[in-house]
Amino acid sequence: MAAIDAGYRHFDCAYVYQNENEVGEGIQQKIKEGAVKREDLFIVSKLWCTFHDKPLVKGACQKTLAALKLDYLDLYLMHWPFGFKAGEELFPTDDKGMSIPSNTDILHTWEAMEELVDAGLVKAIGISNFNHEQIERILNKPGLKYKPANNQIECHPYLTQEKLINYCQSKGIAVTAYCPLGRPDRREGSSDVLLDDPKIKEIAAKHNKTPAQVLIRFHIQRNVVVIPKSVTPQRIVENSKVFDFELTKEEMATILSLNRNWRVCEMIISLGSNELLPWPRTVHYTACWQQQDRYSRQRHSICT
Ligand SMILES: NC(=O)c1ccc[n+]([C@@H]2O[C@H](COP(=O)([O-])OP(=O)(O)OC[C@H]3O[C@@H](n4cnc5c(N)ncnc54)[C@H](OP(=O)(O)O)[C@@H]3O)[C@@H](O)[C@H]2O)c1
Repeated sequence: MAAIDAGYRHFDCAYVYQNENEVGEGIQQKIKEGAVKREDLFIVSKLWCTFHDKPLVKGACQKTLAALKLDYLDLYLMHWPFGFKAGEELFPTDDKGMSIPSNTDILHTWEAMEELVDAGLVKAIGISNFNHEQIERILNKPGLKYKPANNQIECHPYLTQEKLINYCQSKGIAVTAYCPLGRPDRREGSSDVLLDDPKIKEIAAKHNKTPAQVLIRFHIQRNVVVIPKSVTPQRIVENSKVFDFELTKEEMATILSLNRNWRVCEMIISLGSNELLPWPRTVHYTACWQQQDRYSRQRHSICT
C-alpha cells in the first residue's frame, strides 16, 4: 500500500515468497479506495520449481491468482530453469539434505506456460535465472508459440551481466534486474556491501542522491527493468525518486567497471553425470545453491 501511494505500479511477486495473500490484500485495499485501477498495475508472479510438471502449471498459476485476488497476471515467469519433486514442500530434500529434482524439461513446462496465455490467465510469460543456452533451447523449440517476454536475472554493479543483457535485448526479451541493491541485509559482517562502495557513494554525492538511487538509476539507463525491494516506507519513497537525474556516460562506465561476477543468489555448477533428465546433453550438473534469504534459511543442493 505504501508503494502504491508512492507511485509504484509494478509488483514482483512469487509463490515461493509466501506473501502473495498479503500483497493481494494491499492491492485490493488500494483498488477499493480508488487509488488505482487493476489496469494501472503490472503484476508479476513466478511458477515455483515444484510445479514444473506440465499438469501442475495451471493449478499453480490459479493458486497465485487466488492469493493475489486477481483474475489475471500481467507477467508469469518460470522462476528457475529446473524443477524440484512435486509436493507440498517448497524445497524437497532427501535424507542427506540434497534437493530432489524433478525429471521435467523446461521445454515441456514452457508449453504449459503458453497455455496460460491462451486461457487468459496471464497476459505474457517469461523466465527467470535462465542463461544464454537455456534461452536458446526455448527460442529454438519446434512449435514455439510464445517466446519469453522477459528474463528476470540478478544484476547490479558487481554482476553487470553485459553479455546476457545484450543477448536478451537482441532477441526482443526484456530484462529485469533483481537484487539491484545487492541485498544489503543478506549476510551479517559481509564485506561486499554494494551500497557502501566508495565509487557508488562518490557518484551519489555528486548528484545529491543516495547510493540506492544511483544503483537503481544505473538499470534504467541500460533499458533494464529494476525491482528494488523495501519494507521501509521512507526507502520505498527514496527508491522511486530516480527520474530527476541522469548518470553521465563516464559514470555509467565507472559503474560497469565494478563488475566482479559476484552473486547474492549463488549457483555453483559443476559437471557430473545424469541419467534422469531428458536434456539433450551427456553432462549433468550439480548445482549447489547456497542462499541465505528470506524463503530459504538452509543450504540447498540441487541436482539438475
Ligand atoms: N527471480 C529471482 O530468482 C529473484 C531472486 C531474488 C529477488 N528477486 C526479486 O527482486 C526483488 C529485489 O531483490 P532483493 O530483495 O533480493 O534485493 P535488493 O532489492 O537488492 O535489496 C533489498 C534490501 O535492501 C534494503 N533497502 C531497500 N532500499 C534501501 C535503501 N534505499 N537504502 C538502504 N537499504 C535499502 C531493504 O531493506 P528494508 O526492506 O528493510 O527496507 C532490503 O534489505 C525481490 O523483492 C524479488 O521480488 C527475484
